[in-house]
Amino acid sequence: MADVEYLKSLLKSHPDFPKKGIVFLDIFPLLRDPVAFETLITHFVHHITSQTITRSSTRKIDVIVGLDARGFLLGPIIALRLGAAFVPVRKKGKLPGECATVTYEKEYGSDSFDIQADAIQPGQNVIVVDDLIATGGSAKAAGELVSKLGGNVLEYLFIIELTFLNATGKLDAPAYSIVKVD
Ligand code: ADE
Repeated sequence: MADVEYLKSLLKSHPDFPKKGIVFLDIFPLLRDPVAFETLITHFVHHITSQTITRSSTRKIDVIVGLDARGFLLGPIIALRLGAAFVPVRKKGKLPGECATVTYEKEYGSDSFDIQADAIQPGQNVIVVDDLIATGGSAKAAGELVSKLGGNVLEYLFIIELTFLNATGKLDAPAYSIVKVD
């Protein structure tokens, strides 16, 4: 719990960014501080390894999927610590080769995500990582992409959950967030 309070204290709120009425929570101060960054990654890795052992000692994490863009800052480090693959989910049109695509609704309009079709093998165990869950549209879309390739999403991980948006219920697997904001 000390970790949680420490990490929470470093998040910076920016009222009216990127537009009026939104309180933007900035994770970058946390990455700027090597002790905080280490605490963050170690917290996620402990969470993942303790969950894996509790549910089934044979259940191994094969792939960490990171969401465009801030999930790319966390996912590769967590993947390396676990000896797992890292796979990016990117905004449409940025990845070469054959891709699977999902379109999802955002606050205004829609957007599409791609994943490389050969990046996940059927039956592989996957964890999806992003910095923050708000409405959950992008995390849900990432889960759908993993399922399209035949992967099993075991869990979704976030630094921050905006609990008043009640988004985790939309997801097809449990969600874990370090800091809950209401
Ligand atoms: N993405 C969606 N809502 C956000 C918020 N309030 N702060 C940071 N990133 C966000």
